[in-house]
Amino acid sequence: MASPKKLLIVYYSQSGSTNRMADAVVEGARDPDAGTVDVRLLSALEAAAEDVLAADGLILGTPENFGYMSGALKYFFDQNYYACLDKVAGKPYALFVRAGNDGQGAIESVTRIVTGLKLKAICDPVLASGDFTDECLEECRELGRLFTAGLEGGIF
Ligand SMILES: Cc1cc2nc3c(=O)[nH]c(=O)nc-3n(C[C@H](O)[C@H](O)[C@H](O)COP(=O)(O)O)c2cc1C
Repeated sequence: MASPKKLLIVYYSQSGSTNRMADAVVEGARDPDAGTVDVRLLSALEAAAEDVLAADGLILGTPENFGYMSGALKYFFDQNYYACLDKVAGKPYALFVRAGNDGQGAIESVTRIVTGLKLKAICDPVLASGDFTDECLEECRELGRLFTAGLEGGIF
């Protein structure tokens, strides 16, 4: 039997809410009803280019800070962009964002960089803005399930 596809989730959280979203994405991605995928969750401060290159799909998570992605996720891109460039084109990715306001600065800043890497968005970003709700955690679980089902089914 073929070994399971690999999903990497790279995120940063300072006060915990993006961490809760990341945990919900992992929970969804490991839902046996969605399929079987090898799921790794790494901090943006630890993830390296080889982790990205080894993965079949990538989910990024960040809070919006100062109208941009978190400094930690920017650090991840600064450290790994050139080692990934030309090696990840077409790899599926998704994004989840936690923001006090509208989150658009974080979404746009990440989108600009992943467009340069030619990653392929598999769905719209999951955005948790304003009050933090169970609904947004369910959206994150759904994102995880969608990613696992798509990877296992060879759809992406
Ligand atoms: C230094 C700092 C800057 C922030 N800047 C923004 C911002 O520009 N726009 C926004 O919507 N929220 C902003 N926030 C709010 C965070 O996005 C929000 O607190 C979020 O829940 C943090 O996620 P975390 O709990 O995963 O750390 C900022 C928070 C901090 C600490």
